[in-house]
Amino acid sequence: MTDIKACLFDLDGVIVDTAKYHFIAWRELAAELGFEFTEEHNERLKGVSRMTSLEILLEVGGVKLSEEKKVQLADQKNERYVSYIVKMTPNEILPGVVVFLESLKQAGIKTAIGSASKNAPIILERLELTPYFDAVIDGNKVSNAKPDPEVFLKGAEALVISPVECVVFEDAEAGIEAAINGGMRCVGIGRPEILGKANLVIPGFEHFGLSELMKLEK
Ligand code: G6P
Ligand code: MG
Repeated sequence: MTDIKACLFDLDGVIVDTAKYHFIAWRELAAELGFEFTEEHNERLKGVSRMTSLEILLEVGGVKLSEEKKVQLADQKNERYVSYIVKMTPNEILPGVVVFLESLKQAGIKTAIGSASKNAPIILERLELTPYFDAVIDGNKVSNAKPDPEVFLKGAEALVISPVECVVFEDAEAGIEAAINGGMRCVGIGRPEILGKANLVIPGFEHFGLSELMKLEK
């Protein structure tokens, strides 16, 4: 019997690459404000909340604005971003994800999304992945951003599984830290240089299945 009873997934960068759409929408906003926003700058926004992302963008451009104006610009960026993500299809699900989710279902391992994005439900809908998750904890349900463990602890709570029986999948360093802070094991999706604190780092789900998951056994 395995002691792993639930898998908690970050969404952006783990299930689907939405970073490119965030980038286009932020870059357009920066252009309107009169400065260039590069892909390298965009790296700093991964895993970061919408308002914090805007703060970083304004810092890049050396722009100072009132709180009211910031909220207005964040809304404007989100409208653009949503106009891109509503066009997404299941083809954009990252390789190996569906096969892995299927195998978890068959093994009776629970699943949840733990994402900072307020758009998580619509993204899951567009990707036709909603039925694969027993719980969705998104940016609308948490008040503390990763590396605070709130999003994953709420996920475990919703599944009624104890944190020590959960494994988190994350592409951002702050997300790995959130898992560790919540007392969970974690798998980094991406580069070991960045995600070195994870129990295991993999490039994606293509060669990752139940037998690899079980190697994370305590
Ligand atoms: C995820 C992404 C971030 C994004 C955040 C908020 O964590 O990695 O880049 O800023 O969600 O997304 P939202 O869809 O609520 O603007
Ligand atoms: Mg992510």
